[in-house]
Amino acid sequence: MAWLKSSLALTFLLLSAVTVTCALSDAQVDEWLRSRDSALKPLTLTRRDASGIKPRHLRPYAPVKRDITPPDVGQVSTFNGDPQPSRNGNGGLFSGDDTNHPIDVQNPDNVAGPPTDSGVVPNLKWSFSLSHTRLLKGGWVREQAITDLPPSVDFAAAELRLAPNAYRELHWHRVAEWGYILNGTGRISAIDETGRSFISDVVGPRNGNDPDIYYFPPGVPHSIQALDEGLEILILFTDGNFDRLGTTFMLSDWLARTPLQIVAQNFGLNVSDLQNIPKADPYIVPATVPPPPLGHAGDGAPKSPVGTVPSPYVFSLSKQPRQQAKGGWVKIQDSATNFPVSKQVASALVFVEPNGLRELHWHVKDEWLYIIHGHGRATAFAGGSTSRTFDFQAGDTGVFPNSYGHYIKNLSPTEPLIFLEIFKDERFVDFSATQWLALTPPQVVADLLNISVATVQKFSKDKQVIVA
Ligand SMILES: *[C@@H]1O[C@H](CO)[C@@H](O)[C@H](O)[C@H]1NC(C)=O
Ligand SMILES: *[C@@H]1O[C@H](CO)[C@@H](O)[C@H](O)[C@H]1NC(C)=O
Ligand SMILES: *[C@@H]1O[C@H](CO)[C@@H](O)[C@H](O)[C@H]1NC(C)=O
Repeated sequence: MAWLKSSLALTFLLLSAVTVTCALSDAQVDEWLRSRDSALKPLTLTRRDASGIKPRHLRPYAPVKRDITPPDVGQVSTFNGDPQPSRNGNGGLFSGDDTNHPIDVQNPDNVAGPPTDSGVVPNLKWSFSLSHTRLLKGGWVREQAITDLPPSVDFAAAELRLAPNAYRELHWHRVAEWGYILNGTGRISAIDETGRSFISDVVGPRNGNDPDIYYFPPGVPHSIQALDEGLEILILFTDGNFDRLGTTFMLSDWLARTPLQIVAQNFGLNVSDLQNIPKADPYIVPATVPPPPLGHAGDGAPKSPVGTVPSPYVFSLSKQPRQQAKGGWVKIQDSATNFPVSKQVASALVFVEPNGLRELHWHVKDEWLYIIHGHGRATAFAGGSTSRTFDFQAGDTGVFPNSYGHYIKNLSPTEPLIFLEIFKDERFVDFSATQWLALTPPQVVADLLNISVATVQKFSKDKQVIVA
């Protein structure tokens, strides 16, 4: 067998050498395949022929057209829309039905990552498009939990869409809930543990203004209702294992699971008053009467004898100035600086100009990422000579575990990249690689990176956040 293997390998090499300069015709490849072990043929060849689909043959070697010009500096391989597991003479081609082509097109760095990628980094990306969507009367919801993206320990998330005037039913959670209004208008109400009340409208991005954020501490019971535009929210929960029992508590579900006589006595009612309460939690419920319009949250709302909550549950990003950077801007929201109640969630809304770069940095907590707009690329450095590059687009989520070094690059020369960085923390914290090097004695950096002191002195002493 050994001689057979080596003679095959030799033929392979010879063919490789030939095909580099002159591509084989399909007929030549067919002939070559047939002359050898049938196991070398793509299993689908016959079926594909019979189905009338033009067969894509298993080629021993063929040069792939791509936009990498040597030396390989790690740019994305575009492969002109046909990603192949081949880069710099390594790898080979897909043989046909062995890949999910549309997913490859969105993730060229999974197929042919930069040569700097190394070792095994677990998957750190999840697209809501891979989640099951629950279709309900008055909206839909889809979730990302730890079962979808195991490294997302600190957060589970959901996208929730409510039709005009529809309700998310009354409920509370064991964990904190943080919401970012993606679209439309809505109204939320809640009380704290002393009975102080809160009611407020929330609005999505409009007229160039950034949207509202809300936060409910663990246990705080609340309602959410869409107003006449409908409402879409990105919701985060401060536990990746969100679907485990004992995390979410719907009021209607509770009442349906309690003897009705007890419910009646509790509320000081007759059993007959409660004959029609829901038998199961409907999750989303259409409204019977339209609510007071936007800006009239208080109309008809009961007043609590002990007043309103001291610290609002809503934060308007539109009222916060943008922190300008060379390559974009950022708005940071956290409990320590501007949204006191949000003790367990800090966030940054990041806008990266075309071709801009969220600089090399790391955090002291897991980062949960959500892409609002555009196309990005990020490499997660896990220490120990291990890193992996991911591609992101709108609707994708990701996680950079605590302390992993990373950047996020806007891949578009024309479109901005907009995303959220979210942390289970009372303060937004990041370390900038550039700032660190600029504030280290230059000779130290020069010696350790083998660059000149003059080069080290170009590094910015200020955090750049986003580089042009
Ligand atoms: C909100 O939804 C409407 C209707 O689908 C759409 O036209 C609009 O562009 C959306 N706005 C944003 C900010 O996504
Ligand atoms: C219950 O119904 C009875 C008879 O209709 C009535 O007399 C009573 O006041 C009701 N109690 C409450 C708490 O509504
Ligand atoms: C530093 O760079 C020079 C050439 O630029 C090279 O000769 C030298 O080996 C490098 N030193 C280290 C420690 O890599």
